[in-house]
Amino acid sequence: MSDLRVLSVASEVYPIVKTGGLADVAGALPAALRMEGVAVRTLMPGYPAAVEALQSATNVLAVKDLFGGPARLLAGTHGQLDLLVLDAPHLFARPGNPYLGPDGKDWPDNAFRFAALARVAAEIALGAIPAFVPDVVHGHDWQAGLLPAYLRYSRRPHPGTVMTVHNLAFQGRCPRELLGSLGLPPESFAVDGVEYYGTISFLKAGLQFADRITTVSPTYALEIQGAEQGMGLDGLLRARSAVLTGILNGIDMSVWDPAHDRAIASHYGVDSLEARAPNKAALQQRLRLRVSPDAFLLGVVSRLSWQKGLDLLFACLPTILSGGMQLALLGDGDADLREAFRGAASANPGQIGVVTGYDESLAHAIQAGSDALVVPSRFEPCGLTQLCALRYGAIPIVAAVGGLADTVIDAHETTDATGFKFSPVTAENLDHALRRAAAAFYASRANGSEWLRMQLNGMLTDVSWRHRAARYAELYRQIVAQRGG
Ligand code: ADP
Ligand code: GLC
Repeated sequence: MSDLRVLSVASEVYPIVKTGGLADVAGALPAALRMEGVAVRTLMPGYPAAVEALQSATNVLAVKDLFGGPARLLAGTHGQLDLLVLDAPHLFARPGNPYLGPDGKDWPDNAFRFAALARVAAEIALGAIPAFVPDVVHGHDWQAGLLPAYLRYSRRPHPGTVMTVHNLAFQGRCPRELLGSLGLPPESFAVDGVEYYGTISFLKAGLQFADRITTVSPTYALEIQGAEQGMGLDGLLRARSAVLTGILNGIDMSVWDPAHDRAIASHYGVDSLEARAPNKAALQQRLRLRVSPDAFLLGVVSRLSWQKGLDLLFACLPTILSGGMQLALLGDGDADLREAFRGAASANPGQIGVVTGYDESLAHAIQAGSDALVVPSRFEPCGLTQLCALRYGAIPIVAAVGGLADTVIDAHETTDATGFKFSPVTAENLDHALRRAAAAFYASRANGSEWLRMQLNGMLTDVSWRHRAARYAELYRQIVAQRGG
């Protein structure tokens, strides 16, 4: 049987360009799918880093005018990734963050930048590259949202479509006046089209027209069908619930592997957990914390945004400080939170260490060196850092929402416990969870193995892509079968 061909469309792909977990998923899922007999090519925007990353590039398509300038499609590889890079300098040849200008605000032409991505994806789906005609096209988040809409309004036969929601909070909205210039027909501005509260929403367009919708955990798949987490799209998602499923993310087990990780001081595994201790000392040194195996060391690796609930953790600092705990925080994002945590670090040297910015190697060092990893998100479609924590023997302390609820087993529940969960998501409940975790940590240091058992349970949990990729493969095959392909 020949491989199923899938075009994956994503605005960021690890290790080339990354602002969050979407890049990790788009970067790791293709290799896992290959094991399932699915050949994935990934289309991404031609940011400078993406054009540079291409090995042995060939030009497979030229477009004279793509929303205001010429574009070409470059095919090549990067590591295991089979890439199509949309080289359109007027849209993507800009330094820095893929979505934001130097002023920290969205690029004003983001609607056209990502419409261009979707437009070219639609052309590929319709056969623009004869050597690669996909059986299924798979778009990720709002940046790919117009893809199913362009295919629908092309009124031509086309492959099946999947849209994956990684985060419903980002909806890709723009004024209705752009309808024509985005290449959408007048009739598309309707409740059953791309219209969304009087504007155009790219994400809504994708959710409206995709054959199948997935999101990145079963619990988030339910949450987004309710008013509280549905962010205005819950009605549509309820209407489409028959084609909506939640498939958990995995992590790349070769990138996140404590036995071989080059970013950490000492390698370890389930059979050599004692070799984890030097990583705690190294992390304490690196963040100028008091070096002691006995201090309960909390780690955080996160975007600093309302979603992630780190203001709740900030409210718990008195408990952390008075309980003799330590905090190692790595994060970037909202200026208020950056300032607040930096201030706390300078006021409490030895106990609170904060690094603001993006630092991949420190992210690994925190996973390997912390006793527990705190993820107090208000909502979390899946979350990857708690999966890394499980693999690295850092006990997750998480809000019981979305994928966090699905991937962590609370210490109260069973001897299979892997961490601590709290809900509803309030500072009081987080505070309580921190105290519970600290008590368990200190008790185990005195006399027991409960902590160790939780660490081992976590490290033995399957957080790989293997079974999860198989679910995507099954979904693609169902779509092809239903379309009679
Ligand atoms: P989200 O995509 O919502 O930010 P995830 O938990 O799915 O959350 O993915 C976050 C990814 O980004 C993880 O791979 C995490 O290690 C990484 N990450 C987050 N913040 C930083 C940072 N400041 N420096 C390095 N890596 C980070
Ligand atoms: C989003 C979500 C996160 C998820 C990631 C990858 O950024 O916030 O929960 O893990 O996408 O799917």
